[in-house]
Amino acid sequence: MNSKLENIVIAEDRNVYDVLELIDKNAKGVVFVVDKDNKICGVITDGDIRRGLLNNITINDKLTTVMNRSFVAVQENTSFDEVMERIGYKYKSIPIVNSEGEIVDYYSLDLDCNIPISKPLFIGNELKYVTECIATNWISSKGKFVNMFESKFAEYIGSEYAAATSNGTTALHLALEALGIKAGDEVIVPALTFIATANAVTYTGAKPVFADSEMDTWNIDPKSIEAKITDKTKAIIPVHIYGQPAKMDEIMEIAKRNNLYVVEDAAEAHGAEYKGKKVGGIGHIGVFSFYGNKIITSGEGGMLVTNDAEIFRKSKILRDHGMNPEKKYWHDYIGFNYRMTNLQAAVGCAQLENIDYFLKKKQDIVETYKQCLSGVQKITPPPENSWSINVSWLYSVVFKGKSGAKSIRDRIIERLEEGNIECRPFFYPIHKLPPYFSEEILETAEYLSANGINMPSYIDIETDNVKKVCNKLKELLDEC
Ligand SMILES: Cc1ncc(COP(=O)(O)O)c(C=O)c1O
Repeated sequence: MNSKLENIVIAEDRNVYDVLELIDKNAKGVVFVVDKDNKICGVITDGDIRRGLLNNITINDKLTTVMNRSFVAVQENTSFDEVMERIGYKYKSIPIVNSEGEIVDYYSLDLDCNIPISKPLFIGNELKYVTECIATNWISSKGKFVNMFESKFAEYIGSEYAAATSNGTTALHLALEALGIKAGDEVIVPALTFIATANAVTYTGAKPVFADSEMDTWNIDPKSIEAKITDKTKAIIPVHIYGQPAKMDEIMEIAKRNNLYVVEDAAEAHGAEYKGKKVGGIGHIGVFSFYGNKIITSGEGGMLVTNDAEIFRKSKILRDHGMNPEKKYWHDYIGFNYRMTNLQAAVGCAQLENIDYFLKKKQDIVETYKQCLSGVQKITPPPENSWSINVSWLYSVVFKGKSGAKSIRDRIIERLEEGNIECRPFFYPIHKLPPYFSEEILETAEYLSANGINMPSYIDIETDNVKKVCNKLKELLDEC
């Protein structure tokens, strides 16, 4: 049998227990049943078993007691589009059969990985709001959801103003343009961040200058910022990495003393708090991303927040081709099209309605990771500081020990992947990537980058799956 089918096809003479075991392995919530001639004769979902148990079957009963004999299967060579046209997105996994009725493959709408690192959760008004956009024709960047998303997000962060953008990178670029950052200027950014932080600086013509990280936040080290300031420095971009707030008081104090702007890159930290204030709302500008893997998503999308009316006015103009808001098609500046669509904002609004629930679930995930990994000597857990609330966009740990040609971290990621558990290495330090390469050593950023790992953290990850990840990790660490 095709190895993809091994975990989803079961013989008719097996019992309910065997089905549950298979569903646990395949994480698809379904099995396809074949008769003694190897032909498909039924389908069982986890829901069928739940209903069966409520009706007093036992797990030792024959699987035929819960099997659906009426099911949907498609013939070989039916295209995926045709399948979706015929049956819609009602079924998550559909068997593909040959002319003999034997299962040869199946279509699955699920992600391939059993335990992915992240995935969005749509449990609210997403479809309703998007449908409203389509039904009313408001699909581009005008429409009620853009304004609604901006005002509700500003309120959530505690900022006066918010401007929605096409993504987080454009929000960062817009922020720097609105501040007048230009060629010849320098902007200090952490070496350990996603490359978009540095690229946004480069787009303005200015130079990103890389600062080191510190162990107690994994974020930009205020001492390193001080060391990097020159007379060309115009701004600092602290990044709240993986949902962990940076030391904003120290950073704001350095900025004030040196007359610099602070743009918080809170792309990964919706709802995280620094001394009781939401991050993104502390610097002169805060920037967020709503990419599909973020705490709340709009598919692609970004947001710029500020308390400064002039920065906000300039951002909105630059976002819309530099067009004068009072005079149509009169362009005072060379601007950009960085607008968010009403469709994106519709999803964003629905997601924002559930953010408190999402963050609570994130805290539960962290608690499970903490409990399961407590006492494991070979890892450093994420920093915990009394003055901050880390929202754990991605729960992350750092492996102790030396990072050789193939570090413990890299071997463990490979082995977890073999077990269908997706983990990711930390970002590469940007000053070691080709476009920004330098010989400089930024010790802490490089250490964290070489040894850090992001672990599955999606909002509805089952507690058992978190435990499964931890047990596998512990097992692998024992072998290393
Ligand atoms: C720290 C950081 N900054 C900026 C961005 C850019 O956001 P986007 O992908 O929405 O352009 C990301 C995205 O992942 C990020 O992690």
